[in-house]
Amino acid sequence: MPHLSVNERKTLLALRRLGGRASVSDVAATSGLIDAAVMRATLSLTSKGLVRVHERGMNVVSITDEGLSYAKEGLPERRLLNSLLKLGGEARPEEAAKHARLNEGLLQIALGWLLKKGWANLYRPELRHPYHVLSTSREQPLGEDERLLSLLSEKGPLTVESLSEGLRKAVEVLRRRGIVNVKRKVERELELTEEGWRLVRRGIRLIEEVSQLTPELIATGRWRDVKLKRFDVLAPGPALHPGRAHPLQRIIQEIREVFLEMGFTEVRGPLVETAFWNFDALFQPQDHPAREMQDTFYLAEPSVGELMDVERVKRVAKVHEDGWITGSSGWRYSWDFEEAKRLVLRTHTTATTIRYLAEHKKPPIRVFSIDRVYRNEKVDYKHLAEFHQIEGIIMDKGVTFRDLLGVMKEFHRKLGLRKVLFRPTYFPYTEPSAQAMAYLEKKRAWLELCGMGVFRPEVLAPLDVKHPVLAWGAGLERLAMLKLGVEDVRLLYKNDLRWVRGTPVCLW
Ligand code: PHE
Repeated sequence: MPHLSVNERKTLLALRRLGGRASVSDVAATSGLIDAAVMRATLSLTSKGLVRVHERGMNVVSITDEGLSYAKEGLPERRLLNSLLKLGGEARPEEAAKHARLNEGLLQIALGWLLKKGWANLYRPELRHPYHVLSTSREQPLGEDERLLSLLSEKGPLTVESLSEGLRKAVEVLRRRGIVNVKRKVERELELTEEGWRLVRRGIRLIEEVSQLTPELIATGRWRDVKLKRFDVLAPGPALHPGRAHPLQRIIQEIREVFLEMGFTEVRGPLVETAFWNFDALFQPQDHPAREMQDTFYLAEPSVGELMDVERVKRVAKVHEDGWITGSSGWRYSWDFEEAKRLVLRTHTTATTIRYLAEHKKPPIRVFSIDRVYRNEKVDYKHLAEFHQIEGIIMDKGVTFRDLLGVMKEFHRKLGLRKVLFRPTYFPYTEPSAQAMAYLEKKRAWLELCGMGVFRPEVLAPLDVKHPVLAWGAGLERLAMLKLGVEDVRLLYKNDLRWVRGTPVCLW
């Protein structure tokens, strides 16, 4: 005996009770199942060879809203005829219409059909008679169209094929008049096969199938009598969107962990900085192009900040002007105190690490920052005016540029970037300086990630830092775009839920 679900059993039993062959709706009514459940059961019963399906296309006629009102009050031509008879068999059409309470539109329809059906004549009594007269001599029996109308209003929709020929013709006439609708329907009849008969004759037991084992089933012991539905563990479940961190935040967290694993501590600093910490302390001359308005956001209100340690400021001024004790010749210009006081939105997080260094001079120091920076950029698919930088510094006795290369290699390796090379480059505050290039296997492309170098004596001497400092900084968004496969950097800030939800949790 093949395995049968409860609905399949109910369907077979109903078919048997109905004599072995019946329509889906009859089987549904007999079994107590809904039509769709019968159809589903039938699908598997046919594949088991127990039931056969016969399909029959048919046309179903039903009454329209307009037809419904005619069914109540009679077709307009019938109403016109009746009032004409009441008026003695002869009247002006308008008069008869008024009597029948037909409006102008309906009168035209009524008149047309009245004449077409030959129920009355319209004529002028004399050549010069001012109007037409409608005339009839007798009552008319109900037509097929009227019979169909009352049949439909009494019994509801009917199968066209089951009607007499006369009524079938009436369907066509009334359909053209917009009084009835005809729709095609497929009717399915189910029939027990030989195999099906054999099975039902042997007897089918109805066992209840349950999909959930409840405390009640267990407590009463009824679980012994029911059939537990199998779970389909491979069936797709509904998509769930639990709360999750934004992809950019996840990358920030990942980088933060890399730094923490490497023994670094996170530091933060102000978004609004004095030009002193953003530029001057980093030995960037006051006429450096990066300081221009079109590259840097300056604050209008308040426009200047305070420079705390006057001696320190004086030492920075001296370094800029002639190199002070560093052996450098400086930039050879007259340093402007006011320029250094101007407030900017920090353009790099090096402002934050140098500020930290100025206050923490005891080696070893290993700090990092992942934070926002601002540049006066025109926003496009590659550029934002507000973005993030990753920054790190190491200060310790005797550390060298080679240590920096090693640390950078390890830093990249932990981010999943194994192929790294270094190119010489220039920053005003480091010497030597380098640019790290990392190879992205997936993209088959080299990515410029980190700028780095050893802070110059011109930077360290005025801050009274005694030991070498290794520093590097990188943009976060470029790395994030590559990791996330994002072509337009603006997408990172759009809060596009579909994108956020669709981003895989594991990125490399
Ligand atoms: N501040 C540099 C930038 O914005 C990066 C950098 C940091 C370079 C530290 C050298 C040392 O690109």
